[in-house]
Amino acid sequence: MAGNERSLDELTQPSKLRFDDLVDRSLLGEMAREFFAVFEVPLRIYGSEGVLLAEATDEIALYAYLDSIPALRSKVGETIRAVKTLPVGPTGEARYDCFSGAAYRIVSIDYDGSPLGRAILGPYCAAESQGSLTSLAASGTNVDLGRAIHHLAELKSLDHVSVARLGRYLKRNLDSLLFAGHRALLTSSMHLASVRESYRELSDKNAKLQHAYDRLRELDRLKSNFLATVSHELRTPLTSVIGYSEMLAAGIAGDLSADQREFVDTIRQKGEQLLELIKGLLDLSKLESGTLNLRKAQVDACPLVRDVVETLRPMALKKGVALLANTGDEGIPLWADAGRLRQVLLNLTENAIKFTPPEGSVQLSVALTTVAMKQRDEPGHAILAAAEREAVEFRVADTGVGIAEAERERVFDTFYQIDSSATREQGGTGLGLSIVRRLVDAHDGMIRIESNFPRGTIIIVTVPSRRVTDG
Ligand SMILES: Nc1ncnc2c1ncn2[C@@H]1O[C@H](COP(=O)(O)OP(=O)(O)O)[C@@H](O)[C@H]1O
Ligand SMILES: [Mg+2]
Repeated sequence: MAGNERSLDELTQPSKLRFDDLVDRSLLGEMAREFFAVFEVPLRIYGSEGVLLAEATDEIALYAYLDSIPALRSKVGETIRAVKTLPVGPTGEARYDCFSGAAYRIVSIDYDGSPLGRAILGPYCAAESQGSLTSLAASGTNVDLGRAIHHLAELKSLDHVSVARLGRYLKRNLDSLLFAGHRALLTSSMHLASVRESYRELSDKNAKLQHAYDRLRELDRLKSNFLATVSHELRTPLTSVIGYSEMLAAGIAGDLSADQREFVDTIRQKGEQLLELIKGLLDLSKLESGTLNLRKAQVDACPLVRDVVETLRPMALKKGVALLANTGDEGIPLWADAGRLRQVLLNLTENAIKFTPPEGSVQLSVALTTVAMKQRDEPGHAILAAAEREAVEFRVADTGVGIAEAERERVFDTFYQIDSSATREQGGTGLGLSIVRRLVDAHDGMIRIESNFPRGTIIIVTVPSRRVTDG
């Protein structure tokens, strides 16, 4: 039925149905052969345009003989035409008596009131007129009547009533075949139509999504450009503001009163905060555009950790948070841009102190471990085959407010802060972790967040210990 597809609309209109649409030809052929095997009456099934769909018969010696007599050849042809075209009338049935003495039964096949074709049963030898060759005898040809009678007797002998019954039996069988066929056809066409519709909808949505995605990317690029330009333009004047306030504080422009000194100090402090923010934005735009160059080298991880702890000790002291470093005695090899990794640890530790209440503690530790490193250059590479690599694991553990499971992905988003009211009190911009995540990625490392027991957060960063050589 492929290649000859009909619309669902056509298939629901019986007048537009074809025999072929409903019943498979091979199935029909099989049924006809079975019919012939059981009843010994030849059977042909024609479609509405007179196409032969199925046929089951042996060679019929009677017709072979009659056809060999030139004067009768046209009469044989007439019989063939007649059984194919004879009108069946309102009963849907007809009988045709051939000049040869054989008979045929014609049964029209309809579906839901629309004609689909006809079945022709015969030739058979009618029991009622057994061996009657009146018309043949009258044909006035030199036919050998004895031979004709002999061949006629080879046909199945049945009375007309039995053949009519056979015809009705056949019709009922075909009806149920057609009905089952139609149902299957409708189901599959409907299925096909609904699949087509879903596919069309999906393609539509895909196109819209792609459009939205392209637009977002473009906006994102514009935003990064904008950030880079603005940050750069802000940095220069801000450096002057800080520089001049430092000079004022140092008394270069004359002595200052206590109040003046305090104000100038505030100007300097706020200026430095602003500068940090601008540096963060610049870093972020460089990381986003992939233009940040890392100068990786083989370094020792322990001094890095100690340096971060020393740098933030005043902040921890001021807040009353205990700050501890756990580095062991021996060196730990690390393949990294030391300055950038220091920035990562500073950010994480600063957060830890910031989100830990007084009396709490923050602990930094570093240790050598092995991990299955990501195979960045070979997408689809089985993770099982990924080599176990030596890596350095940094842990920043605090006893602070903690980060709920549901927030552990979002805190890495640019400008995201969990509780904006509480964090406003804490200061900050929500840039830190998004820069950290990108820096760790640039080191081919990994970062994850866990809960500390009984309260607080542990942030774990893993970075390769040695240079990853390809191949
Ligand atoms: N150690 C931590 N404990 C609890 N919450 C944290 C911790 N570190 C980060 N967060 C949460 O993640 C948010 C994003 O962190 P970050 O990007 O560094 O921004 P910022 O520090 O400027 O607020 C913080 O605002 C805070 O809500
Ligand atoms: Mg931060």
